[in-house]
Amino acid sequence: LDQAPPDGAVAPNGSARQLPHTIIIGVRKGGTRALLEMLSLHPDVAAAENEVHFFDWEEHYRQGLGWYLSQMPLSAPHQLTVEKTPAYFTSPKVPARVHGMNPALRLLLILRDPSERVLSDYTQVLYNHVQKRKPYPSIEEVLVRGGRLNVDYKALNRSLYHVHLRNWLRFFPLHRIHIVDGDRLIRDPFPEIQKVERFLRLSPQINASNFYFNKTKGFYCLRDGGRDRCLHESKGRAHPQVDPKLLHKLHEYFHEPNKKFFELVGRTFDWH
Ligand code: A3P
Repeated sequence: LDQAPPDGAVAPNGSARQLPHTIIIGVRKGGTRALLEMLSLHPDVAAAENEVHFFDWEEHYRQGLGWYLSQMPLSAPHQLTVEKTPAYFTSPKVPARVHGMNPALRLLLILRDPSERVLSDYTQVLYNHVQKRKPYPSIEEVLVRGGRLNVDYKALNRSLYHVHLRNWLRFFPLHRIHIVDGDRLIRDPFPEIQKVERFLRLSPQINASNFYFNKTKGFYCLRDGGRDRCLHESKGRAHPQVDPKLLHKLHEYFHEPNKKFFELVGRTFDWH
C-alpha cells in the first residue's frame, strides 16, 4: 500500500487504478461476495475489496469520479477492474449515473430464488441486531400483518426483480447485463463462472479444480495456487424455519412478478 501511486497515477511497475470495466450491481444476498471472490481467481481481474457505494450514496457521488477511481485496486493495464455494491440494483437513481460514467459498461447481476433471498435478507438484519445486542422481531412478525403477507416489508420489494431490472433496461441493453444464477452458483459454481468469463471476454483461466466442496461449511470453497479458503462465516448462514403455510404465501406472492421477470429477460429460472 505504501507504494500506491496517487489516484489514477501510474506506479513504476506499470500498475495503476482504473475505473471499473464491470460492476456487480446486486442483488443483495444474491451471492455477490461469492461471485466477486470467484471472479478474482482470474489473473486478469482486479477487484475492489469493499463495497464502494459510489453511485447510491450522495456523500460519495458528490466527490466525483476521481474519488471513485481512488477506491479501485491497483491493476495492470490488461486487467479488468470490478467492484460490487449490491445496493445498486434496487436504487432507482443508480442506472442513469452508471450510464453517465460509461454507457458501454458490462454489468453483472446475480439473482436467487426471491423467497429464499427474503429469508437471507431477514437473517442478515437479524444477525446485525444480535451483534449489537438489539432485539429484532421474528420472521413471522415481519412477514405477517393482520393475517396477510406484509407487503410493506422492504425485503419483499428487493426481490421484485422485474421492477428493478426495468430501471436498468432504460439505460443498458439486456445483452450488456449478464445474469448469474445464484442458486446454481451455490450448487455448482464452475459452469456459472465460465459463463461470466465468456461474457467479460476473459480468456478461460478459471478451472474446476479452483473449487472444492467443503462439507463442514456446506458450500463450495476456493482453491487458489494451493491455498484453500472459504467465504466468511457470515456467508452461508442457516435461514429461519418458516411455517409451510407462510412459505406458500411467499411463493404465491412472487409467482406473477417472477413470470414478468422471465418474460423481460427471455429466460426462466428454477424458482418456487
Ligand atoms: P446465506 O448466508 O443467506 O446463505 P451476498 O454475498 O450477496 O450477501 O450473498 C450471500 C449469499 O451467498 C449467502 O447467503 C450464500 O447462500 C451465497 N453463497 C453463494 N456461494 C457461496 C459460497 N461458496 N460460500 C458461501 N456462501 C455462498
